[in-house]
Amino acid sequence: MRYGRIGKAVQTRYVPNAVKVIAQTQCHWLWPGRRLGERNLSQKTGPQDKRTRMVRRSRFFQTRGLTMENQNPLSPHRLCDEQRAGLYQAVLTRRDVRGQFKPDPVPAAVLSRILTAAHHAPSVGFMQPWNFLLINSPQLKQRVHDAFVAANTEAAVMFDDERREVYQRLKLEGILEAPLNLCITCDRERAGPVVVGRTHMKTMDLYSSVCAVQNLWLAARAEGLGVGWVSIFHQRELQTILAIPRHIVPIAYLCIGYVSHFFDKPELESANWRPRLPLDELVYFEQWGQTSAEGAVPLQQQLRADQEAVQQGSFVSTRLD
Ligand SMILES: Cc1cc2nc3c(=O)[nH]c(=O)nc-3n(C[C@H](O)[C@H](O)[C@H](O)COP(=O)(O)O)c2cc1C
Repeated sequence: MRYGRIGKAVQTRYVPNAVKVIAQTQCHWLWPGRRLGERNLSQKTGPQDKRTRMVRRSRFFQTRGLTMENQNPLSPHRLCDEQRAGLYQAVLTRRDVRGQFKPDPVPAAVLSRILTAAHHAPSVGFMQPWNFLLINSPQLKQRVHDAFVAANTEAAVMFDDERREVYQRLKLEGILEAPLNLCITCDRERAGPVVVGRTHMKTMDLYSSVCAVQNLWLAARAEGLGVGWVSIFHQRELQTILAIPRHIVPIAYLCIGYVSHFFDKPELESANWRPRLPLDELVYFEQWGQTSAEGAVPLQQQLRADQEAVQQGSFVSTRLD
Protein backbone atom coordinates (compact mmCIF):
# COMPACT_ATOMS: atom_id res chain seq x y z
CA MET A 1 0.00 0.00 0.00
CA ARG A 2 1.26 3.46 -0.79
CA TYR A 3 0.94 6.35 1.54
CA GLY A 4 1.05 10.05 0.79
CA ARG A 5 4.49 10.59 2.21
CA ILE A 6 6.25 7.74 0.50
CA GLY A 7 9.39 8.89 -1.15
CA LYS A 8 9.60 12.05 0.87
CA ALA A 9 13.00 11.45 2.33
CA VAL A 10 13.41 12.60 5.87
CA GLN A 11 16.62 14.40 6.64
CA THR A 12 17.23 13.35 10.19
CA ARG A 13 19.03 16.50 11.10
CA TYR A 14 15.79 18.39 10.51
CA VAL A 15 13.68 16.11 12.67
CA PRO A 16 12.82 17.85 15.91
CA ASN A 17 13.35 15.99 19.16
CA ALA A 18 9.66 15.92 19.95
CA VAL A 19 9.00 14.03 16.74
CA LYS A 20 11.63 11.45 17.52
CA VAL A 21 10.07 10.84 20.90
CA ILE A 22 6.62 10.48 19.32
CA ALA A 23 8.02 8.17 16.69
CA GLN A 24 9.60 6.03 19.37
CA THR A 25 6.74 5.94 21.81
CA GLN A 26 3.76 5.83 19.44
CA CYS A 27 5.35 3.65 16.79
CA HIS A 28 7.29 1.50 19.23
CA TRP A 29 6.15 -1.60 17.40
CA LEU A 30 8.18 -0.42 14.44
CA TRP A 31 11.28 -1.00 16.49
CA PRO A 32 11.67 -4.73 16.89
CA GLY A 33 12.64 -5.83 20.37
CA ARG A 34 11.92 -2.48 21.91
CA ARG A 35 9.27 -1.65 24.46
CA LEU A 36 7.23 1.49 24.83
CA GLY A 37 9.22 4.24 26.47
CA GLU A 38 12.63 2.73 25.80
CA ARG A 39 14.88 5.35 24.37
CA ASN A 40 18.39 3.97 24.29
CA LEU A 41 18.98 2.66 20.80
CA SER A 42 22.47 1.45 21.68
CA GLN A 43 21.19 -1.30 23.97
CA LYS A 44 21.61 -4.05 21.42
CA THR A 45 24.29 -2.65 19.21
CA GLY A 46 26.58 -1.08 21.75
CA PRO A 47 27.30 2.61 22.11
CA GLN A 48 26.78 4.66 18.99
CA ASP A 49 27.37 8.30 18.42
CA LYS A 50 24.32 10.45 17.98
CA ARG A 51 24.73 10.90 14.24
CA THR A 52 25.01 7.14 13.57
CA ARG A 53 21.87 6.54 15.59
CA MET A 54 19.95 9.17 13.68
CA VAL A 55 21.09 7.93 10.30
CA ARG A 56 20.11 4.36 11.23
CA ARG A 57 16.74 5.56 12.41
CA SER A 58 16.15 7.62 9.29
CA ARG A 59 17.05 4.66 7.05
CA PHE A 60 14.70 2.47 9.06
CA PHE A 61 11.80 4.77 8.31
CA GLN A 62 12.77 5.44 4.68
CA THR A 63 13.13 1.79 3.78
CA ARG A 64 9.62 1.20 5.02
CA GLY A 65 8.20 4.14 3.11
CA LEU A 66 7.42 5.89 6.36
CA THR A 67 8.09 9.32 7.62
CA MET A 68 8.86 10.57 11.08
CA GLU A 69 6.97 13.77 10.29
CA ASN A 70 4.02 12.73 12.36
CA GLN A 71 3.97 15.75 14.59
CA ASN A 72 0.74 17.63 14.83
CA PRO A 73 1.12 21.07 16.42
CA LEU A 74 -2.35 20.70 17.92
CA SER A 75 -1.78 17.30 19.49
CA PRO A 76 1.32 15.38 20.44
CA HIS A 77 -1.03 12.45 21.01
CA ARG A 78 -1.83 11.99 17.36
CA LEU A 79 -1.02 8.54 16.03
CA CYS A 80 1.93 8.24 13.70
CA ASP A 81 1.34 8.48 9.96
CA GLU A 82 1.22 4.78 9.28
CA GLN A 83 -1.18 4.12 12.12
CA ARG A 84 -3.49 6.92 11.00
CA ALA A 85 -3.38 5.64 7.44
CA GLY A 86 -4.21 2.14 8.68
CA LEU A 87 -7.15 3.37 10.71
CA TYR A 88 -8.69 5.37 7.87
CA GLN A 89 -7.94 2.56 5.43
CA ALA A 90 -9.88 0.13 7.61
CA VAL A 91 -12.77 2.57 7.95
CA LEU A 92 -12.98 3.31 4.24
CA THR A 93 -12.48 -0.21 2.92
CA ARG A 94 -14.69 -2.00 5.46
CA ARG A 95 -17.52 -3.64 3.61
CA ASP A 96 -20.62 -5.55 4.48
CA VAL A 97 -19.70 -8.94 3.02
CA ARG A 98 -22.38 -11.35 1.92
CA GLY A 99 -20.94 -13.50 -0.80
CA GLN A 100 -17.18 -13.83 -1.08
CA PHE A 101 -16.46 -16.04 1.91
CA LYS A 102 -13.74 -18.66 1.79
CA PRO A 103 -14.16 -21.76 3.95
CA ASP A 104 -10.88 -21.34 5.89
CA PRO A 105 -11.50 -21.24 9.63
CA VAL A 106 -10.70 -18.10 11.57
CA PRO A 107 -7.67 -18.83 13.77
CA ALA A 108 -8.26 -18.46 17.50
CA ALA A 109 -5.60 -15.75 17.79
CA VAL A 110 -7.31 -13.62 15.15
CA LEU A 111 -10.75 -14.23 16.59
CA SER A 112 -9.46 -13.30 20.00
CA ARG A 113 -8.05 -10.03 18.65
CA ILE A 114 -11.27 -8.91 16.99
CA LEU A 115 -13.30 -9.87 20.06
CA THR A 116 -10.84 -7.91 22.17
CA ALA A 117 -11.41 -4.91 19.91
CA ALA A 118 -15.16 -5.34 20.39
CA HIS A 119 -14.76 -5.58 24.15
CA HIS A 120 -12.94 -2.25 24.17
CA ALA A 121 -15.87 -0.39 22.70
CA PRO A 122 -17.35 2.47 24.66
CA SER A 123 -20.44 1.62 26.69
CA VAL A 124 -22.87 3.69 28.70
CA GLY A 125 -21.87 3.72 32.39
CA PHE A 126 -19.16 1.21 31.39
CA MET A 127 -21.99 -1.27 31.30
CA GLN A 128 -20.34 -3.60 28.75
CA PRO A 129 -23.74 -5.12 28.02
CA TRP A 130 -22.46 -7.42 25.30
CA ASN A 131 -21.96 -11.14 24.93
CA PHE A 132 -20.45 -12.85 21.95
CA LEU A 133 -22.25 -16.01 20.90
CA LEU A 134 -20.17 -17.99 18.41
CA ILE A 135 -22.00 -20.28 16.04
CA ASN A 136 -20.12 -22.99 14.16
CA SER A 137 -22.71 -25.77 14.04
CA PRO A 138 -24.00 -26.36 10.48
CA GLN A 139 -27.37 -27.40 11.91
CA LEU A 140 -27.78 -24.16 13.81
CA LYS A 141 -26.62 -22.12 10.83
CA GLN A 142 -29.19 -23.91 8.71
CA ARG A 143 -31.96 -23.03 11.15
CA VAL A 144 -30.85 -19.42 11.23
CA HIS A 145 -30.75 -19.42 7.44
CA ASP A 146 -34.28 -20.82 7.30
CA ALA A 147 -35.41 -18.03 9.61
CA PHE A 148 -33.75 -15.52 7.30
CA VAL A 149 -35.44 -16.97 4.19
CA ALA A 150 -38.87 -16.75 5.82
CA ALA A 151 -38.33 -13.17 6.98
CA ASN A 152 -36.80 -12.17 3.65
CA THR A 153 -39.82 -13.47 1.76
CA GLU A 154 -42.01 -11.31 3.96
CA ALA A 155 -39.70 -8.35 3.41
CA ALA A 156 -39.79 -8.65 -0.39
CA VAL A 157 -43.52 -8.00 -0.62
CA MET A 158 -43.15 -4.75 1.30
CA PHE A 159 -41.47 -3.07 -1.67
CA ASP A 160 -43.26 -1.87 -4.79
CA ASP A 161 -43.02 -4.00 -7.93
CA GLU A 162 -39.97 -2.33 -9.40
CA ARG A 163 -38.00 -2.27 -6.16
CA ARG A 164 -39.06 -5.83 -5.32
CA GLU A 165 -37.38 -7.20 -8.42
CA VAL A 166 -34.13 -5.51 -7.50
CA TYR A 167 -34.54 -6.53 -3.85
CA GLN A 168 -34.97 -10.18 -4.75
CA ARG A 169 -31.73 -10.11 -6.71
CA LEU A 170 -29.75 -8.73 -3.76
CA LYS A 171 -27.71 -11.15 -1.73
CA LEU A 172 -28.34 -10.14 1.84
CA GLU A 173 -26.57 -12.77 3.92
CA GLY A 174 -23.72 -15.30 3.93
CA ILE A 175 -24.93 -17.43 6.83
CA LEU A 176 -24.09 -20.83 5.37
CA GLU A 177 -20.97 -19.84 3.42
CA ALA A 178 -19.23 -17.99 6.23
CA PRO A 179 -17.15 -20.34 8.38
CA LEU A 180 -18.12 -18.47 11.52
CA ASN A 181 -21.35 -16.83 12.63
CA LEU A 182 -21.44 -14.57 15.65
CA CYS A 183 -24.35 -13.06 17.48
CA ILE A 184 -23.50 -9.96 19.52
CA THR A 185 -26.11 -9.31 22.18
CA CYS A 186 -27.12 -6.70 24.74
CA ASP A 187 -27.94 -7.64 28.32
CA ARG A 188 -30.26 -4.82 29.31
CA GLU A 189 -30.00 -5.71 33.00
CA ARG A 190 -26.26 -6.13 33.27
CA ALA A 191 -25.52 -3.18 35.49
CA GLY A 192 -28.70 -3.06 37.56
CA PRO A 193 -31.67 -0.69 37.28
CA VAL A 194 -29.78 2.63 37.39
CA VAL A 195 -26.87 3.11 35.05
CA VAL A 196 -24.69 6.20 34.71
CA GLY A 197 -25.66 7.96 31.49
CA ARG A 198 -28.73 5.84 30.88
CA THR A 199 -31.04 7.33 33.44
CA HIS A 200 -33.24 9.04 30.86
CA MET A 201 -32.37 7.50 27.52
CA LYS A 202 -32.87 3.81 28.04
CA THR A 203 -31.71 2.77 24.59
CA MET A 204 -28.12 3.74 25.32
CA ASP A 205 -27.25 0.15 26.27
CA LEU A 206 -28.34 -1.01 22.82
CA TYR A 207 -26.15 1.60 21.18
CA SER A 208 -23.23 0.46 23.33
CA SER A 209 -23.48 -3.04 21.90
CA VAL A 210 -23.61 -1.52 18.43
CA CYS A 211 -20.32 0.22 19.22
CA ALA A 212 -18.87 -3.22 19.98
CA VAL A 213 -20.10 -4.45 16.62
CA GLN A 214 -18.41 -1.61 14.82
CA ASN A 215 -15.11 -2.10 16.67
CA LEU A 216 -15.15 -5.75 15.71
CA TRP A 217 -16.08 -4.94 12.11
CA LEU A 218 -13.14 -2.55 11.72
CA ALA A 219 -10.69 -4.85 13.45
CA ALA A 220 -11.86 -7.68 11.21
CA ARG A 221 -11.23 -5.53 8.15
CA ALA A 222 -7.74 -4.81 9.42
CA GLU A 223 -7.23 -8.58 9.74
CA GLY A 224 -8.52 -9.16 6.20
CA LEU A 225 -11.68 -10.79 7.48
CA GLY A 226 -15.05 -10.10 5.92
CA VAL A 227 -18.06 -9.42 8.12
CA GLY A 228 -21.69 -9.29 7.03
CA TRP A 229 -24.50 -8.11 9.28
CA VAL A 230 -27.82 -9.93 8.87
CA SER A 231 -30.88 -8.36 10.45
CA ILE A 232 -33.68 -9.88 8.41
CA PHE A 233 -35.13 -12.07 11.16
CA HIS A 234 -37.94 -12.09 13.62
CA GLN A 235 -36.07 -11.33 16.81
CA ARG A 236 -37.95 -13.91 18.85
CA GLU A 237 -37.20 -16.63 16.34
CA LEU A 238 -33.50 -15.89 16.43
CA GLN A 239 -33.64 -15.95 20.23
CA THR A 240 -35.39 -19.31 20.20
CA ILE A 241 -32.89 -20.89 17.80
CA LEU A 242 -29.91 -19.63 19.82
CA ALA A 243 -31.51 -20.09 23.26
CA ILE A 244 -31.08 -16.40 24.01
CA PRO A 245 -33.12 -15.38 27.08
CA ARG A 246 -35.94 -12.87 26.63
CA HIS A 247 -34.21 -9.97 28.37
CA ILE A 248 -31.10 -10.33 26.18
CA VAL A 249 -31.41 -8.53 22.86
CA PRO A 250 -29.68 -9.96 19.81
CA ILE A 251 -28.08 -6.86 18.37
CA ALA A 252 -26.15 -8.18 15.40
CA TYR A 253 -26.02 -11.51 13.66
CA LEU A 254 -22.68 -11.51 11.85
CA CYS A 255 -21.22 -13.77 9.18
CA ILE A 256 -17.44 -13.81 9.44
CA GLY A 257 -14.66 -15.30 7.38
CA TYR A 258 -11.77 -14.70 5.04
CA VAL A 259 -12.87 -13.46 1.65
CA SER A 260 -11.70 -13.69 -1.95
CA HIS A 261 -12.04 -9.91 -2.28
CA PHE A 262 -13.65 -6.83 -0.85
CA PHE A 263 -15.81 -4.69 -3.09
CA ASP A 264 -14.82 -1.04 -3.53
CA LYS A 265 -18.31 0.22 -2.82
CA PRO A 266 -21.31 -0.87 -0.78
CA GLU A 267 -23.24 -3.46 -2.75
CA LEU A 268 -26.43 -1.44 -2.33
CA GLU A 269 -24.67 1.52 -3.93
CA SER A 270 -23.42 -0.58 -6.85
CA ALA A 271 -26.93 -1.97 -7.34
CA ASN A 272 -28.24 1.62 -7.51
CA TRP A 273 -30.39 0.92 -4.47
CA ARG A 274 -29.18 4.06 -2.77
CA PRO A 275 -26.25 6.43 -3.40
CA ARG A 276 -23.88 7.65 -0.70
CA LEU A 277 -25.31 10.96 0.46
CA PRO A 278 -23.29 14.18 0.20
CA LEU A 279 -21.70 14.59 3.63
CA ASP A 280 -21.62 18.38 3.49
CA GLU A 281 -25.44 18.41 3.26
CA LEU A 282 -25.74 16.27 6.37
CA VAL A 283 -23.80 18.68 8.57
CA TYR A 284 -25.93 21.33 10.25
CA PHE A 285 -24.88 24.37 12.26
CA GLU A 286 -26.36 25.38 15.58
CA GLN A 287 -29.94 24.51 14.66
CA TRP A 288 -31.47 21.48 13.01
CA GLY A 289 -31.53 21.89 9.24
CA GLN A 290 -29.28 24.97 9.15
CA THR A 291 -26.54 24.53 6.57
CA SER A 292 -25.15 28.06 6.58
CA ALA A 293 -23.22 29.75 9.34
CA GLU A 294 -20.13 31.83 9.82
CA GLY A 295 -17.15 29.69 8.93
CA ALA A 296 -19.29 27.00 7.37
CA VAL A 297 -17.98 27.34 3.83
CA PRO A 298 -14.38 26.20 4.40
CA LEU A 299 -15.59 23.11 6.26
CA GLN A 300 -18.13 22.33 3.56
CA GLN A 301 -15.42 22.66 0.91
CA GLN A 302 -13.21 20.30 2.89
CA LEU A 303 -16.04 17.82 3.28
CA ARG A 304 -16.71 17.82 -0.46
CA ALA A 305 -13.02 17.44 -1.25
CA ASP A 306 -12.67 14.59 1.24
CA GLN A 307 -15.70 12.80 -0.17
CA GLU A 308 -14.37 13.27 -3.69
CA ALA A 309 -11.00 11.88 -2.58
CA VAL A 310 -12.70 8.82 -1.08
CA GLN A 311 -14.50 8.24 -4.37
CA GLN A 312 -11.24 8.58 -6.28
CA GLY A 313 -9.55 6.19 -3.84
CA SER A 314 -7.01 8.83 -2.89
CA PHE A 315 -8.22 9.86 0.58
CA VAL A 316 -5.55 8.03 2.54
CA SER A 317 -2.75 9.13 0.25
CA THR A 318 -3.74 12.77 -0.14
CA ARG A 319 -5.93 13.94 2.72
CA LEU A 320 -4.14 12.93 5.91
CA ASP A 321 -1.74 15.86 6.35
C1 LIG B 1 -27.89 -2.40 11.66
C2 LIG B 1 -27.51 -2.98 10.34
C3 LIG B 1 -28.23 -4.03 9.81
C4 LIG B 1 -27.89 -4.55 8.55
N1 LIG B 1 -28.57 -5.61 8.05
C5 LIG B 1 -28.21 -6.15 6.87
C6 LIG B 1 -28.87 -7.29 6.35
O1 LIG B 1 -29.80 -7.85 6.92
N2 LIG B 1 -28.44 -7.79 5.17
C7 LIG B 1 -27.42 -7.23 4.47
O2 LIG B 1 -27.08 -7.70 3.40
N3 LIG B 1 -26.76 -6.14 4.96
C8 LIG B 1 -27.14 -5.61 6.13
N4 LIG B 1 -26.45 -4.53 6.63
C9 LIG B 1 -25.34 -3.96 5.86
C10 LIG B 1 -25.73 -2.71 5.09
O3 LIG B 1 -26.54 -3.04 4.01
C11 LIG B 1 -24.42 -2.04 4.64
O4 LIG B 1 -23.72 -1.66 5.77
C12 LIG B 1 -24.67 -0.81 3.77
O5 LIG B 1 -25.31 -1.17 2.59
C13 LIG B 1 -23.37 -0.09 3.45
O6 LIG B 1 -22.45 -0.99 2.89
P1 LIG B 1 -21.02 -1.25 3.51
O7 LIG B 1 -21.24 -1.77 4.91
O8 LIG B 1 -20.37 -2.25 2.61
O9 LIG B 1 -20.29 0.06 3.55
C14 LIG B 1 -26.79 -4.00 7.85
C15 LIG B 1 -26.05 -2.95 8.41
C16 LIG B 1 -26.40 -2.45 9.64
C17 LIG B 1 -25.58 -1.32 10.23
